[in-house]
This record gives sequence, C-alpha cells and structure tokens, in this order.
Amino acid sequence: MATLGIDIGGTGIKGAPVDPLTGTLLAERLRLPTPQPARPNAVADVVQEIARHFAHTGPTGITFPAIVKNGVVHSASNVDHAWIQTDAGKLFSHHLGGPVVVVNDADAAGYAEMIFGAGRDIKGVAILLTFGTGIGSAVFCDGRLLPNSELGHLKIRGKDAEQRCSERVREKKDLSFKKWAGIVSEYLAILEQLFSPEIFIIGGGISKKADKFLPHLTTKTDVRIQPAKMQNDAGIIGAACLAATTHPSTKARNPK
Ligand code: BGC
Repeated sequence: MATLGIDIGGTGIKGAPVDPLTGTLLAERLRLPTPQPARPNAVADVVQEIARHFAHTGPTGITFPAIVKNGVVHSASNVDHAWIQTDAGKLFSHHLGGPVVVVNDADAAGYAEMIFGAGRDIKGVAILLTFGTGIGSAVFCDGRLLPNSELGHLKIRGKDAEQRCSERVREKKDLSFKKWAGIVSEYLAILEQLFSPEIFIIGGGISKKADKFLPHLTTKTDVRIQPAKMQNDAGIIGAACLAATTHPSTKARNPK
C-alpha cells in the first residue's frame, strides 16, 4: 500500500505517494509554495491540498524543520514561532482525516538514506548532515535513529554551526566552495571527536554540487564522506517510510 510523503520547507512544500518497500515515488511530486507567514493553519491547508491532489487517504508522513517529539513542535529556528508547542500531528491528521506521522526533516532524509541510499548496510555510527537554509542532522547507530540531534546548533567558537556554514551562509557571503569546505571541515572535526562516525552523508540543497566541494573537505579520522543519494526526494521518501512502519496496515522496510 502506498503512503504519502510530504516535506515542509521554508519556501516550498512537496509531496508524492511512495512505495515504502522500494522507496520509489509512484507519481510526479507536487511542489506548492510555503504560505507566508507560514503559520500552522495556513501550512496545514497546503498539506491538505497536496493530499487531495493525490486523492490520498491512508497513512501520511510529514517532515518539519524543527524538533518534533510525539508530533509536537519544540523549536523554531527557521520557522514561524507560532509553531512552538503546536501539536502538528493532531493538526495535520485533522486536516487530512487519516493517520499522520510528523518527523524532523533531517531525520526523515537520514532514514531514507539509511534504507535505500548512501547509509545502506552501515554498521556503527552514521551521520547525515543537510546543508540548506539551516543545517539539519540525523544520527544513526547500527541503523537506529537517535531523533532530534540538532547538530546544526552546535557552537563553534561561540557561533551556531549553521550560522557559519549552512548553504544559505555560503551563498550570502559568496564563499568559494574551497573556502566553505574549510569551514565545514572544522565542523566535521568536532563531530568526529564527539561521535567517531563511520560515515558522513552530505544532503540538502548542496548535495547536487558534491563534485565542487567533496575534493576540498578534509577529515581527522578514517571517516568516509558521501553525498546523499536521494537528494531532494529523501525527505518525502523517509517520511513516507516512517508512516508505513508506524501503521500496521502497510508494510515497510527498516534500516539495517
Ligand atoms: C533546525 C533543525 C532542522 C534544520 C534543517 C535547523 O535550523 O533547528 O530542526 O532540521 O534546520 O532544516
């Protein structure tokens, strides 16, 4: 049975039905602009429009760019502050009339990469980092997710990592890929010290430009660095797979 995956971002909300067993999109994805201001009800209306477009009524997985615990949003670094303490799970399932799972955007992308992408069969610690408006992170050990790791807010010399080296900062400061990779390498060194990962998977908007920055990234240990395989669709696919695992009416694969 297909589940619907919806990825909520700062500028666009995208969705598509997904086969959770293979991670393939079953229809061309639909992208609608994120309403501004992006308050909860306005965003939920767009989510509903996407579900209606696909005539979807079953389980839906939805990503959100913040800390999400049991469907409730607990932070708002790059989203409207009205979301804090909003029960997004309840709000969306009310709008969609069906079961909903809400998950942090990077956790969803990481989940997809661990099952179908660059993190497949990785034992030990794997860390996915998404470089976009902010920096998202997903930490896995033997394929199991440690949710809401929020490593983009790790302080480096007094400043959030995402304020030093997100893709937005690279564009705003017009940094060359070489210069940007130098700042990212300092960040990776701290993560290596903290987690001794086997692999860093680089996702988000930047993953399309892997050939430009990968050669300039350096590491302190033997950790591997790979670009995310699913690029823009990882959030949709991961959210749809998570929705499938939590609803017994659908079959899905787990990482490992
Ligand atoms: C948020 C994270 C999110 C990341 C990427 C950060 O600012 O705190 O929750 O995963 O941006 O969207």
